[in-house]
Amino acid sequence: KPLVFSGVQPTGNLHLGNYLGAIRKFVVLQDQMDCLFCVVDLHALTAQLVHEDLKDQTREIAAAYLAAGIDPEKHIVFNQAAVPGHAQLAWIFNCVARIGWMNRMTQFKDKAGKDRENASLGLLAYPSLMAADILLYRATHVPVGDDQKQHLELTRDIAQKFNIDFSARIAASGHGVELTNGDEVINGYFPMAEPLIEGPAPRIMSLRDGRKKMSKSDPSDLSRINLTDDAETITRKIRKAKTDPEPLPESVDQLEERPEARNLVGIYAALSDRTAQRVLDEFGGQPFSTFKPALAELAVSVLEPINAEMRRLKADPGHIDAVLKDGAERANVRAQQTISEVNEIIGLL
Ligand code: TYM
Repeated sequence: KPLVFSGVQPTGNLHLGNYLGAIRKFVVLQDQMDCLFCVVDLHALTAQLVHEDLKDQTREIAAAYLAAGIDPEKHIVFNQAAVPGHAQLAWIFNCVARIGWMNRMTQFKDKAGKDRENASLGLLAYPSLMAADILLYRATHVPVGDDQKQHLELTRDIAQKFNIDFSARIAASGHGVELTNGDEVINGYFPMAEPLIEGPAPRIMSLRDGRKKMSKSDPSDLSRINLTDDAETITRKIRKAKTDPEPLPESVDQLEERPEARNLVGIYAALSDRTAQRVLDEFGGQPFSTFKPALAELAVSVLEPINAEMRRLKADPGHIDAVLKDGAERANVRAQQTISEVNEIIGLL
């Protein structure tokens, strides 16, 4: 049965990339499939152990989910640490995954930097916890931005190794399901979770450098539009966004060598649910002095109501906590079933 799982880390500065690459897609998917949306607070410990206010950061992401339009009654909204199964399954997956797989992760290499020996063990094992998030519910679809593609490949590698290494016991347990693995149909336990990345803006770039990803950790606040920015700040950041001097082209192929222009057109497209070509049909031939104010107006019209609703929700943290608690209870019922089946398949007493 199709099931959606996705998560966002509570590490501050929730930005337009997180919104367009992930949260906006969650809102669309909730009309099509059963969904779990998680605030992955355990992941937040991997790069930085001590946080100023992790509880509030967690509420902030939950508020963004709700403000964007996710229905926490029809779907499950919760935080990772409140469901022990995530850490339990991650441990099993630490024993399934190979160190070499983890060492190849580009996000690990980027985040660990030169001093790899000093990175936390959790940072190395990060993708194993992420695989556990998804597979704890045997989710089949994972809406994410382009930067998570490699982690999703690793999730499938873990699922596949588990299915193969334990194939006889999975069959004997009766908990297996028919899974297609390429051309082959096998009886496995974990599905091959599929990333949902496509869309006009799978990778939103920095407003200061079209070759760098928009990121929570960029030291320049002008590089990103935060979900908490007010209308004036959004407008100013778009006005100051780096561009080239040429007017916008007529066709998307002509955006290839123009990363900043491509990024802004992609943002416009994603915010207005159109293709990049449709945006160029309207703005092709026009200078940035015309396009930027139109983009700013569109961005404000989409983000302002979300921002206002986030502020309203955050004024009542008790309500957010109650939503998360209810979500965690419902998630936990499903998680416990997987953990007990996995323990049985592995042969733990
Ligand atoms: P995180 O918290 O870094 O980002 C949350 C989501 O936002 C997407 N994203 C972007 N999309 C487009 N352009 C960008 N510039 C951009 N920056 C971020 C991310 O791809 C992500 O979808 N590992 C995940 C969190 C996670 C998770 C999971 C996701 C943990 N467990 C299970 C899915 C399923 C992460 O660090 O996301």
